[in-house]
Amino acid sequence: MLEIIHRDHRNINQLLRILRKKIKLLENDEKIDYRLVKVIINYLKNYSDKYHHPMEDLIYAYYLKYRVVPDEVAIRLSQEHKLIKEVTIELDELVDMILLDAIVPKEQCLEKLAVFVELQAAHLMYEESQVLPAIKASLSADDWVNLEQQWQHSHYDDPLFGDNISEEYKALAERINQG
Ligand SMILES: [Fe+2]
Ligand SMILES: [Fe+2]
Repeated sequence: MLEIIHRDHRNINQLLRILRKKIKLLENDEKIDYRLVKVIINYLKNYSDKYHHPMEDLIYAYYLKYRVVPDEVAIRLSQEHKLIKEVTIELDELVDMILLDAIVPKEQCLEKLAVFVELQAAHLMYEESQVLPAIKASLSADDWVNLEQQWQHSHYDDPLFGDNISEEYKALAERINQG
């Protein structure tokens, strides 16, 4: 399970890198392909919020219940997943408007995108640098067996980074491969 979480984080980081490049382009007054931004948001909404975060939530809930963990860690983890979900929906709505040719000030779009990327990146860093190492150090093999049994989600093929890339994500996969 921890391996899956780390792998997802590496994948999400690749997407954030592309979004950062888009922000740079916008800052330089250049045009960006909003359809690609939309596809990235879709992926994060569908895969991250429906699979990655639920798996983390399960592990974190177990960790918080059975180990002594400072309050601020527990509060921060639950707040951040909620906040990320909200900010993702807001950005998604804004990009939809742009794709429908609504007039959206560039600054507004830039700000929303930047907030989104920074929030995702900071959350990922926090998990990778503090939460996951602490969990790894404190949970035993038995704990992991327990957690695997509790994970009720059916197997979910990653539609972008998995073996079978779905039609929707083909262009994005190519973009990722370009580095
Ligand atoms: Fe998370
Ligand atoms: Fe995560």
